[in-house]
Amino acid sequence: MAVAVLTTADARAKTALSRDFAKRWKASRAEAGRAIPIGAACPPDQPARPMQPPLLDPRDVPRRKPGTLAGRTAILHAVAHIELNAVDLHWDILARFAHVPMPMGFYDDWVQAADEESKHFNLIADCLAEMGSFYGALSAHAGMWRAAEDTADDFMGRLAVVPMVLEARGLDVTPNMIEVFRRAGNAPGAAQAVSAMEVIYAEEVHHVAYGSKWFHFLCGREDTDPKEAFHRLVRRYFHGALKPPFNEEKRAEAGIPPDFYWPLSEKAG
Ligand SMILES: [Fe+2]
Ligand SMILES: [Fe+2]
Repeated sequence: MAVAVLTTADARAKTALSRDFAKRWKASRAEAGRAIPIGAACPPDQPARPMQPPLLDPRDVPRRKPGTLAGRTAILHAVAHIELNAVDLHWDILARFAHVPMPMGFYDDWVQAADEESKHFNLIADCLAEMGSFYGALSAHAGMWRAAEDTADDFMGRLAVVPMVLEARGLDVTPNMIEVFRRAGNAPGAAQAVSAMEVIYAEEVHHVAYGSKWFHFLCGREDTDPKEAFHRLVRRYFHGALKPPFNEEKRAEAGIPPDFYWPLSEKAG
């Protein structure tokens, strides 16, 4: 199922398949002893993606003012791209590390996260439609899959970088994005974008929490200090320092204490 999602190029087809598989997984888990068995499959190095949007170096992605419709469209287009990437990231962790024995709760959590990212993409794509645009209308960031490639052989590295750094960063920046759309008042799609991003903001806390939970689980199994392991893995696989200000409250709610991220921030040098 994971590989089928990863090898589907069309964005709406990818999210539909992802949601359908999540439903099947959950139904199988609801009946004692009927869980779909964990298989083995080879995920692609890069997930299939639609022909549009063109993927550009982030320095070449044009910046637009948030106070305009074009600017707000660009923000949502970037969010749609992040959500689609997240769908692939969550199915990828399931397939790529299927050889590592894990409790069933691990699969439940990442299937749930993949399902929610699929919903997030659809919500944002609907907002883009309301604003007269669509996913693929603008260019998008080319470097999104880099974290997956860098950690393709390192399960704990994947958990440290993807949910605990990248998705945690989402918690830091989402409140300001919601504010941009709130300020846009009655502009086309603005109210719809506020409600979509409130759903995303609430659900992303769980994704970060899943990351922290399973990272700590693996550290416990290997008798490794989680904070030291986190610092080592982020320094190894994440390029650059973490950017404050941090959403300390939501990070705490997700099980990431300040001594995990502050020493890796710009201010810590
Ligand atoms: Fe999301
Ligand atoms: Fe997420």
